[in-house]
Amino acid sequence: MDNLYYSDYIELDKILNSQHPKSFSSLEDGNDEMLFIIIHQAYELWFKQILFELDLVRNIFIRDRINDNSDDMSRVVQRLKRVVKILELINQQVSVLETMTALDFLEFRNHLLPASGFQSKQFRLIEAKLGLKMEQRYKAEYYKHTRRGSLSEADLQEVNQAETESTLKELIIQWLERMPFFHEGYWHDYKRSSPVDVHSSPVDKRSDQASENDKHQFWVDYRNAYQTSLSENERGRLAEFDKVFFDEGRGDVSPAAMRSALFITIYRNLPILHLPFELLNTLSEIDELLSNWRYRHFMMVRRMIGIRVGTGGTSGAGYLEGTLSHHYAFREITEVATFLIERSKRPALPKALKEKVSFNIP
Ligand code: HEM
Repeated sequence: MDNLYYSDYIELDKILNSQHPKSFSSLEDGNDEMLFIIIHQAYELWFKQILFELDLVRNIFIRDRINDNSDDMSRVVQRLKRVVKILELINQQVSVLETMTALDFLEFRNHLLPASGFQSKQFRLIEAKLGLKMEQRYKAEYYKHTRRGSLSEADLQEVNQAETESTLKELIIQWLERMPFFHEGYWHDYKRSSPVDVHSSPVDKRSDQASENDKHQFWVDYRNAYQTSLSENERGRLAEFDKVFFDEGRGDVSPAAMRSALFITIYRNLPILHLPFELLNTLSEIDELLSNWRYRHFMMVRRMIGIRVGTGGTSGAGYLEGTLSHHYAFREITEVATFLIERSKRPALPKALKEKVSFNIP
């Protein structure tokens, strides 16, 4: 368009005319409420961008059933890495607000009652689209829309709706379940690394019900290597291994998806697994950075209001501390690390599979 003007393009007037502190009307009486409003607005803008990136990524997964050989995978990883950068940035922003002291905050705190960051619909949508379900939320009763200080009925409905659409976690699980590593054709020259002992291996014993992947020799070998890597007081881990990778899975992640996540993690050096590993790693990073934010926010809140209840009516710092250990979307993916073995102990992959997953430039 001819003559497009900077402030018109980014609709600056709307943004810059949206700060209306309630505790003062002239500069002489000015206090930190201006900073408080601006920092929340800056956060909400970044939340909007995060939601945009998450929707794009979810769309790629939904539309294409993601093709590992196309650009899809790198687009997904690139977008999620951008989310990581934004989260790093908004973590740092906490220190700008920390230049405000508890007494400064008291000058205007009562003016914002019962509004609270708890009501940030966008923050709730980020959590929901990543994969956090209402029943997994710490103190889910706080979300009942009848309470003052909680989400409005319309906002809550939107968050509930987001939970029912394919969340990033569900899409990642489906993608992991589709991994084609165990097609028979790749494994005919596989050399077992451990002696076959069908009597001692629960993996083999359950062969009747188990799927082809479940009883795959590779996993029997891996399980044996894992067993030998455990110290005396970690012996119980083997039962956990069977549960996670062959019986129940972990959390809402199926055994098949857990096996793929483990396979990708141990053989990340193979060219075709670089991006899938980056993806899994980035998901853990997102969880970690969100958790860092929760921690920084919680510490800041303690400094600002001690152990007073929040403006939104929760127990305040105590509630926020509780969210720290509950609100992870990708806990199971991150905790795959529990089941790793040393590189040198990994079963050697068969030639056919290695050729399939490597760059083969003559
Ligand atoms: C002086 C600064 C701040 C104080 C004292 C404060 C206090 C609180 C408290 C006490 C809660 C718990 C809910 C309640 O009862 O109100 C809460 C939740 C929340 N606040 Fe803040 N907050 C501050 C700054 C911020 C900023 C800058 C943001 C950025 C958007 C923010 C976002 C949130 C969010 C998203 C929640 C919900 C957290 C969850 O439930 O997991 N807060 N805040």
